Amino acid sequence: MLITSLGHAGLRVETPELRLLMDPWLATTGAFQGAWHQFPSNAHLDTPELLDCDWVTVSHEHLDHMDLSVLSRLPERTRVLIPRYPSKVFLRRLRDAGIANVIEVSAWQRFPLNTAGDWLTFIPEQSPMCHDAGVLVCAGGASLLHCNDARLSVAQGRRATVEAGGRLDVMAVQMSGASWHPICYEYPREVAERLETEKRVGKFKAVTRLLRGVAPLLAVPFAGPPCFLDPVVRHHNPTSRSPGIFPDLEQAAGWLAERLPGVPSTYWLPGDTYELPSGRCVREPRWQDFSFADTEAYLDRYAAERRPALEAVYAAHPDPGDDLGERFAEHFARLGELSTYFLERIAMTVRFEVEGPGGGCWDVQLGPERARVSLHGGDGAAQYRFRVASRWLDPVIAGRVGWEDLLLSLRFSAWRSPDLYNDYLVGLLKHADADALEAVACYESSRDSGETVVVEGPDGSRYEVGRYCPHAGEDLTHGAVVQDGVLRCLGHNFDFDLSSGQCLNARCDPLQVKSEVAQSTLSSQISRQ
Ligand code: FES
Repeated sequence: MLITSLGHAGLRVETPELRLLMDPWLATTGAFQGAWHQFPSNAHLDTPELLDCDWVTVSHEHLDHMDLSVLSRLPERTRVLIPRYPSKVFLRRLRDAGIANVIEVSAWQRFPLNTAGDWLTFIPEQSPMCHDAGVLVCAGGASLLHCNDARLSVAQGRRATVEAGGRLDVMAVQMSGASWHPICYEYPREVAERLETEKRVGKFKAVTRLLRGVAPLLAVPFAGPPCFLDPVVRHHNPTSRSPGIFPDLEQAAGWLAERLPGVPSTYWLPGDTYELPSGRCVREPRWQDFSFADTEAYLDRYAAERRPALEAVYAAHPDPGDDLGERFAEHFARLGELSTYFLERIAMTVRFEVEGPGGGCWDVQLGPERARVSLHGGDGAAQYRFRVASRWLDPVIAGRVGWEDLLLSLRFSAWRSPDLYNDYLVGLLKHADADALEAVACYESSRDSGETVVVEGPDGSRYEVGRYCPHAGEDLTHGAVVQDGVLRCLGHNFDFDLSSGQCLNARCDPLQVKSEVAQSTLSSQISRQ
């Protein structure tokens, strides 16, 4: 198996009988309304030879993975494989863009790629709240687990190893998250820095724990960070340095080398190749003098190169007309019909301060039963506020891009009180689809709350708690740390008070806390699990 890095989460996998592209992102307009760009540039790889392939996998809808400018240029014979998610939104989006040969593949289904025995399977995240999936490829006698942005559990990683025949040759993992929190929020600097540090370290620790449990033969951090070339968002580039939330590949690989010496790791730049089983890595010569530690001059040149593409992005986002408010109200009236389960859990007023032509101050009261929109907002209290320019909001309201695409563009600012993450608000916006929301409601309502585990803090305190996190089902046997009476689930860093079970930093059902366990009862409790 020959693996070529395409930059970001893009890989090309070749054997004598297989040519497969995985999440190729090559658009010179970047992604997310021109805010994100490949770092470093992978433009030199965009050749007809690269696109000449049999299969392409696309893991999810984020535009740094689903690059329509690539998918629309594929040879006619090439088929596009996507995971089967609870809704058809992803499939529809591809078909609406004219991508014809799309095949949905169910979770863990072995999909044959040729008659030589090569196959792949998709591994979606456990909770349907996030439509993210890893891809396991077994080809040419070697195996690759391409995790994309999916937060796979240790159990999923171990099952992938078993499916691959007991040996996972390469595991590519995301260590630089894709998030607008806290960098788009109006926090005092010291609060933002504390939250950024928590996020960076939390992500690193979660990946370390996953790799330790799965033990692949080689770990490769990938799928980020992006860089920001538009002057309006360019101030986000320094967030690659500590304590920022977009650590670069050098820092990620350095962390792994230090904390996980038993699992060999490396990182690849666009055009580097890695051959299995020999382990021979050939570096792309153009990166000989490139270093993530000193990128200012590189980013200046890169931004100058991309200026025409960025001008095209702005041209494609003209100022909207005066009817934006009316269309905004219709949009939220539709969202308000999709799921009472979500509305009950949002139950707040969200204010949109929309700047520029067609804008205004608009309040959306979401829940508990329906959505009410006031286009004369700003008088009453709001618990959440977004400030965004009308040109970036318009394509969301028109249905051309998703809410998450706008949020990931970082072209907005936000404020909230209380300062709690509301997964249901983000879930409603990003899915905007009844089937997807219903799948979350079913998943969350059908969880078995009977099983418990005992978790232990560094001071020796022990608690019997529900085994699975009430957020997205992380197994707390391996996925939790306890400190000062608070359990942190490492799935998404939600904190739970161990005296009440209440979630302290997000809108989430409480953790089931049965009791604080005395030392003398510990051995008998563990033996019953
Ligand atoms: S699974 Fe998300 S915080 Fe626990």
